[in-house]
This record gives sequence, structure tokens and C-alpha cells, in this order.
Amino acid sequence: MAKRPASFICQVCGAAHTRWQGRCESCGAWNSIAEETTAADTLPANLRGGRKGRLIALESLSGTSEDAPRVRVGISELDRVAGGGLVPGSVLLIGGDPGIGKSTLLIQASAALAGAEHRVIYVSGEEAVAQVRLRAERLGLAGAAVELAAETNVEDIVATLSEGRKPALVVIDSIQTMWTDTVESAPGTVTQVRSSAQILIRYAKRAGAAVILVGHVTKDGQIAGPRVVEHMVDAVLSFEGDGAHHFRILRAQKNRFGPTDEIGVFEMTGLGLSEVANPSELFLSNRDSGAPGTAVYAGMEGTRPVLVEIQALVVPTNLGTPRRAAVGWDPSRLSMVLAVLEARCGIKLGAHDVHLNVAGGFRISEPAADLAVAAALISSLSGAVLPHDSVYFGEVSLTGAVRAVPHAMARLKEAAKLGFTRAVAPEAKGSSGGSSGGSGNGAAKEPLESPLATE
Ligand code: TYD
Ligand code: MG
Repeated sequence: MAKRPASFICQVCGAAHTRWQGRCESCGAWNSIAEETTAADTLPANLRGGRKGRLIALESLSGTSEDAPRVRVGISELDRVAGGGLVPGSVLLIGGDPGIGKSTLLIQASAALAGAEHRVIYVSGEEAVAQVRLRAERLGLAGAAVELAAETNVEDIVATLSEGRKPALVVIDSIQTMWTDTVESAPGTVTQVRSSAQILIRYAKRAGAAVILVGHVTKDGQIAGPRVVEHMVDAVLSFEGDGAHHFRILRAQKNRFGPTDEIGVFEMTGLGLSEVANPSELFLSNRDSGAPGTAVYAGMEGTRPVLVEIQALVVPTNLGTPRRAAVGWDPSRLSMVLAVLEARCGIKLGAHDVHLNVAGGFRISEPAADLAVAAALISSLSGAVLPHDSVYFGEVSLTGAVRAVPHAMARLKEAAKLGFTRAVAPEAKGSSGGSSGGSGNGAAKEPLESPLATE
């Protein structure tokens, strides 16, 4: 191959520069630029000529998306987050911290799918075949019909995959260890990761196999190497968890074939990951309902209601600027709720430190948690314990009103299922008000004007 001019690529955002510099102008990262051979001039010469393509009328395809077959892996938490199973020919990227359980999840998924009907190939670039086997043995999956390979060169991998029966699923663990002959940079650099991903994506589309790429995450939570890989693939899932807890959450960040608000909940056990069909039970299992400052929030994650405990600690401070800390919730929403409590309800917290924690390491993004947060804050400040059989949800507006939130019925039903008998919530739009408890499930709705009324 002829020697090509080098260029300087930012390892964070993938921007190309003509000379080395300390800071990337494109994304602002410091010390992120490394010398690499550009990928652009590695395009094969025949791309310049160009062959005629075939145009297909959109209308002639009507109905075909309905039958777009999905391959169900058989792990329902994973299938649901993926949008109802894997789409053949699509590429899915799973990112997560090292040690969170990505390899464990994927060897379990591979084993669940592999069989007479589906060929599954697991390519490990990080571990030897013997190590992968050892893990499978520990998980009681040593007898599974998964084919293993320890490979890091994508050309070799594609050649191996093209032999024999078409695989239904190919797992690449991980994309950062892959390299291609077409570029000269070291494995793990942006150019290598991007080019390797490109080749594997092309393979997936051509062969009609579902490909899952594993991606490591950097300290700031981004999938290491290029963000460009996230744009190239069909779906990006993140596998999250908290070192101190045993449960893991699979969350869709992007999905061309499904919703992005679904979560899958797993528990890491000595025998691998087990599915958690009822996350609320798990999140509330260590609840200390006799202490002030805790409120149970009836939340929604995608199509599923999830109950979690919100904990607040309000303590007098001697700092000039009191502390506001939130774990698992947006700190700016906490500031907003504090401001509304002060301005609309006369509850002054200016001389108090405020700590907020979503129990169990869970993360909430819905504004519907405002009311539960307000209730926990007031409970901690006043020392009054909230009724142990109540749940809270509702969005607090800047005027102090509590706004209706979607899926009120599903939230109430979940609460009733877990033995809660009261809910402090806004009146649902379009519902006939207060009739929710009528079906004998014990849930009662108490419409509220202001969070103060929870005192
Ligand atoms: P792993 O799947 O190797 O993580 P990743 O691929 O995301 O880096 O998981 C490693 C961790 O999981 C390790 O700390 C041990 C733990 N583990 C269990 O607790 N139980 C098990 O059955 C297995 C296989 C791993
Ligand atoms: Mg791994």
C-alpha cells in the first residue's frame, strides 16, 4: 500500500486537523489529538467509477415492514429494550463500564438464542476462547450451541463468518479491540474503531445477520473512541449499574427500530444475570418506612410503571452557600422544586443543606417525580414521617400548581399491586376523578392543589 499523508484526529470526537494541537477546536477536548493515517483516502479506486443502482417504488413495499421479522433472543428484558427482539441485518451497540456485566449478558443472550434454528457466533477480542468457556461453565451454559472465536482482525472475522450457515446473531466483544488492514493506526484509535465498525456494519446488512457490538465507556460516560460509531449503528443501548448494588439497568439511548424509553432490569447473581420481572419490589425491598424524609414515587419507564423510594435530608448549614446535592435526579430540577417551595409555599430552605437520593442507584428523568421530591423534602424538614402506604407523583409547575402526568392509571395500578392504598397525585386529565379505587384494588386518588397539602 502506498504511503499516505498522516493527519491528526481527535480521539474524542473524530475531527481531523492538519497539524497537531493541544486542544481540539471541534469539541474542546484537551490533549486528545493523535497522528493517524486518514481513512478517506483508503477508499477503493472502483468507488470513483460507480455502478448503477436499482430504484424501488416506496408503495410497492407496503406491508413489508409489518412482517419485518424479529428474532427474539428469549431474554425478555433484552428483547423489550431492543424493541421486541433483534432485527436481522441491524447493528446494535451496547456500552457500559468495564466489569458491569456486558460479556456476561451477551454470552447468556447467545446461549439463549443458539440452537438448531439459529446459528450464533461470539467473537471475543479481549479474552481467549478458554476464558469465555470458563465463564459459560460458571453460568451453567457450557452445553450451549454457541460458536466461539478469539479474533481481532475484522477481515479475518468477516471471512470466518461468511463460511457455512448464515448466523442469526454475531457478538463482537469489543469494538475497541478490533482492527482492519485498511488503516495503519493502532487498535482502539478513532480511525480503527470507525473503520472496523464500518466493515462489520456492511457485513450485517449484506448477510442479514444481527450484529451486537460491545463498546467500553470512558469515565464521563461516553462510549470510548468515536461518537461516530453511535451514529453509524441502528441502536445504542447502555448497560448501567452501581458498583454497590447488584442490579443492572439496560437502557435504549437510540433505536431505529423501537422506542427509547424502555428499560430492562437485571440482577447480578453468582450464576450470572437474572431478569427482574417486577423492579418495584426490588427497588423497595430495603425500604425504611419509619424514617422522615422518604417518599415513594410512582414512576414510569417506557411502558412499565416502576416504584422507587426518594430520600431527602435537610439539615441546617453553617456554610455561606448551602449545599444542594442530588444523586439519581437532575440537580437543576431540585433547585426548581426548592424555589417553588420557598416562593409559593413559604418553606424556606436557604439556611439548610439539601441532599437528595434516589434509592438503589436508580436514575429518574421524569418531571413527574417533582411531587415526591417535594414531599420527601418537607418530611425531612419537619421531621414528620409520611404515611407508609402512600405513593406520590405529579409535575410541579413554577406557579406552584401540580400538573397532570401521563399514565396515571398504570402508576396507580402498580402501587395498588404492591399494597399501597393512597396516592397523592394531580387529577388525571379526562378521567372521571376519584373513581380509580373503585375496582377494589384499594388505590385512592387525592387531587391536590399544592404540595403544601402533603404536610
Ligand atoms: P463481565 O461480564 O466480564 O463485565 P464486562 O464485560 O462488562 O466488563 O462481568 C464481570 C463482573 O461480573 C465481575 O466483576 C464478576 C461479576 N460476575 C458475577 O457476579 N456473577 C457471574 O456469574 C459472572 C459471570 C460475573
Ligand atoms: Mg467483557
